[in-house]
Amino acid sequence: MQIIRSVQKMQAWAGEVRIQKQSVGFVPTMGALHEGHLSLIREAHKKADKIVVSIFVNPTQFGPHEDFKNYPRTFEKDQKLLIQEKVDVLFYPDAHSMYEEGFQTNIVLTELSKPLCGELRPGHFEGVATVVLKLFNIVKPHFAFFGKKDFQQFLIIEKMVEDLNLDIHVVPCALIRDEDGLALSSRNKRLSEEERKRALVIPRALKMCQEFYQKGIKNVAQLQSKVLEFVDKEGDLNIQYFEIRDAKTLESIEEIQKPTVCAIAAYVGNVRLIDNLLLGEKNDSV
Ligand code: PAF
Repeated sequence: MQIIRSVQKMQAWAGEVRIQKQSVGFVPTMGALHEGHLSLIREAHKKADKIVVSIFVNPTQFGPHEDFKNYPRTFEKDQKLLIQEKVDVLFYPDAHSMYEEGFQTNIVLTELSKPLCGELRPGHFEGVATVVLKLFNIVKPHFAFFGKKDFQQFLIIEKMVEDLNLDIHVVPCALIRDEDGLALSSRNKRLSEEERKRALVIPRALKMCQEFYQKGIKNVAQLQSKVLEFVDKEGDLNIQYFEIRDAKTLESIEEIQKPTVCAIAAYVGNVRLIDNLLLGEKNDSV
């Protein structure tokens, strides 16, 4: 596996691969890799000839009081995992080469970025979209793989690609859970044993929502109040939101008729976790 740190070298590599008529599959990450990331790489191998993974903890997507400094960084371990997964290139730029002095251009987002995490983390998705667009221009992928764990992020990137006519196929990949049901996330590494147990209320709440839905409750307010009652009783979490919204537009709905996303964000101690479940779609369960 080649490790490329320079933007220009990465662009030159990608240009060369394209001249050879080979396809590039890209998995952007912030490192602290887990099975969820590895599942994206395995999907990438199914579709593309060459695989690039980036590791870049993007400062512009963290708010001033968020966990940029404490975000887990496990480069040595990540590198070994990527070699095992037969990744061709690890793109590992530093912040200075991604944001040179005088950097002043940002993507502006509208509707999809307004609710849920967008409301609570102002500027977060603009930071994500801007860095992803930069990474796309550097890595020049044919396919880019995003996990549905970050469901709002996936929708925003998919829309950006459509709106800006980028010639990239965005591939959504399944959310991966640990055996106990907790959605895999790099942030799980920051949970103590006791916090991890408390965090399990999150997937249990989603499962409960799914069960009520399967029993025929389609009214959003009713589902929300049942789930929040359960979380209040069982959980020792600081819930930021539990919302049930249209899975394409993220607009509020009153009754579940079309594919719908139940999304939750909560603090367990100092660690902010998100999770979601799609209702009205096949193969989704907690
Ligand atoms: O999902 C992530 O890890 C990040 O938001 C991404 C897409 C790598 C952009 O920094």
